[in-house]
Amino acid sequence: QGDVFTYDPGFTSTASCSSTITYIDGDKGELLYRGYPIEELADKSHFLECCYLLLYGELPSAAELEDFEARVTRHTMLHEQMQYFFRGFRRDAHPMAIMVGVVGAMSAFYHDSTDIGDPWQREVASIRMIAKMPTIAAWAFKYSIGQPFVYPKNSLDYSGNFLHMCFSVPAEDYVVDPILSRAMDRIMMLHADHEQNASTSTVRLASSSGANPFASIAAGIACLWGPAHGGANQACLEMLQEIGTVDRIPEYIARAKDKDDPFRLMGFGHRVYKNFDPRAKVMKQSADEVLGLLGIDNNETLKVAKELEKIALEDPYFVDKKLYPNVDFYSGIILEAMGFPTSMFTPIFALSRTVGWISQWKEMITDPEQRIGRPRQRYIGAPRREYTEIEDR
Ligand code: SDX
Repeated sequence: QGDVFTYDPGFTSTASCSSTITYIDGDKGELLYRGYPIEELADKSHFLECCYLLLYGELPSAAELEDFEARVTRHTMLHEQMQYFFRGFRRDAHPMAIMVGVVGAMSAFYHDSTDIGDPWQREVASIRMIAKMPTIAAWAFKYSIGQPFVYPKNSLDYSGNFLHMCFSVPAEDYVVDPILSRAMDRIMMLHADHEQNASTSTVRLASSSGANPFASIAAGIACLWGPAHGGANQACLEMLQEIGTVDRIPEYIARAKDKDDPFRLMGFGHRVYKNFDPRAKVMKQSADEVLGLLGIDNNETLKVAKELEKIALEDPYFVDKKLYPNVDFYSGIILEAMGFPTSMFTPIFALSRTVGWISQWKEMITDPEQRIGRPRQRYIGAPRREYTEIEDR
């Protein structure tokens, strides 16, 4: 059986790599981007500044930030022919299916940036991914609702441009609401990176073979789509809507505790956090703030979410298993209030996480010690045995 490996069903206890980008202390509920607490960044920074921090390791000077924003802005457009990829999908295709396909197709449109041995092309690939993901996500949304694609307007900031591409239509003027733009920017910051989560590990493993960054990130998007990972924000809001009213919460709590029932409280629990997910706290404050500013703080879904959290956090099942709300528990409430359908929640997670994926990709492929990823297994199959002819079976 060779070496005896410590079997860990989720690889949580085995360090898959060294990294300088993001630090998580699951017991303390701490999350740092390059050493800066997420709570401070969410309060004082903005998404593109966080992108610079995650990519280059330091907060930018004013001149560095201006140059970075200009470089990202230059790449927000998609190759015009890529529109044919969107149009090849059925109208009811999930936007995540479109994102997986279109991002993978970028390998065929941006050949120059697939040369991972060229530092300049690695830099351009990073910028292109960050710049184009909002356009891809917005166009996937527009296609799914039968509206025309809206081109980026580079006079807008990053999150405002995304809202413009999602909600403006040629027939009417659209003015980006600064409340929504700030809320979107904060959601993007909270989702930007999270050390070696499943989708980031997928991007690392895929690109460890030398695969190009676009194909590797398409693999990450596919992994993120799952309801146990990034798909949880959509599943969580749909769960809260299904619960509907506060009086139905006990029924769902009971189901979540029933070993024979596969139902789990979506937006609750985490592989690493055994304390509050610090992002959930910021997201909850943001939900209160945004819905209050929009005058919909009597939102039934928010009431159900808060009561569900309160009941669960007092229930010994959840307390003993150290299950707390995670980043996905409140995010959907804000996104729904902004006018997004639940199908767009995970694409927004993907566009936010792109900077984390590409930062970790860059860190890995520039590591001189880096080798192809090759996880091992614990073999529990048949022992060695001789072949038997079919007539003897
Ligand atoms: C993300 O890794 C990351 O960093 C991911 C992420 C990121 O930013 O990239 O943070 C984003 O994916 C957040 C997680 C989103 N997923 C969900 O909200 C889906 C619902 N949550 C679960 O499916 C679950 O909590 C996981 C998938 C997140 C973790 O699953 P595990 O590894 O099984 O959780 P665990 O080992 O901590 O579970 C301990 C116990 C288990 O019961 P026992 O086997 O001990 O009897 O708690 C139970 C679990 O069955 N449990 C739950 C539960 N989550 C775990 N029971 C009810 N409801 C839940 N939500």
